[in-house]
Amino acid sequence: PRYIWLSRHGESEYNLGGQLGGDSNLSERGQMYAKKLPSLLQGALEQSVFPDGKVPELTVWTSTLKRTNQTARFLDYPKRSWKALDELDAGVCDGMTYEEIEQQYPEDFKARDDNKYEYRYRGGESYRDIVIRLEPIIMELERQENIMIVTHQAVLRCLYAYFMNVPQDQSPWMQVPLHSLIRLELRAFDTIETRISADI
Ligand code: F6P
Repeated sequence: PRYIWLSRHGESEYNLGGQLGGDSNLSERGQMYAKKLPSLLQGALEQSVFPDGKVPELTVWTSTLKRTNQTARFLDYPKRSWKALDELDAGVCDGMTYEEIEQQYPEDFKARDDNKYEYRYRGGESYRDIVIRLEPIIMELERQENIMIVTHQAVLRCLYAYFMNVPQDQSPWMQVPLHSLIRLELRAFDTIETRISADI
């Protein structure tokens, strides 16, 4: 089998205030997760079964935003940052809370709830747009054996749906908790998922 490791970034300052998007730093709890991530990953790697018994070299991919880079900070592996892994662009709603969006753009708020997959933020993106920009990432992932991806809620949902064979229009509603490492074991005909909580 080959493995893909997925994690959201640790809790950010924007997460604390319920604000969308932005480029904030990790909160204190988020930093605790960053510190714990190397041992969490190491423990999980030791429990994984690789073809010739050796752990293939691991590479860490992040987005270009501060919160994913800060989360990966203590992971001692080669790193690569991708713009295509940045969070869903909420356009004019960037930095707002859901309550503020509901007040200022009530029609948009409803339209998004009615069709979250297709809804495109004004001046921003839809989930469908993310799926399209993830194509090069997925092509590259298909050639790799052992990649750890630290990214954002919406992007992680789309990647997860792709590898777990869930229809993409269901991805916007999937639960992806903070402070958990997801291991996807890609086998010839299916994918096995393991979730490892950091208890933070
Ligand atoms: O709240 C964190 C966050 O990553 C936002 O930056 C982003 O807009 C949102 O989650 C995506 O989740 P949803 O599509 O459920 O609003």
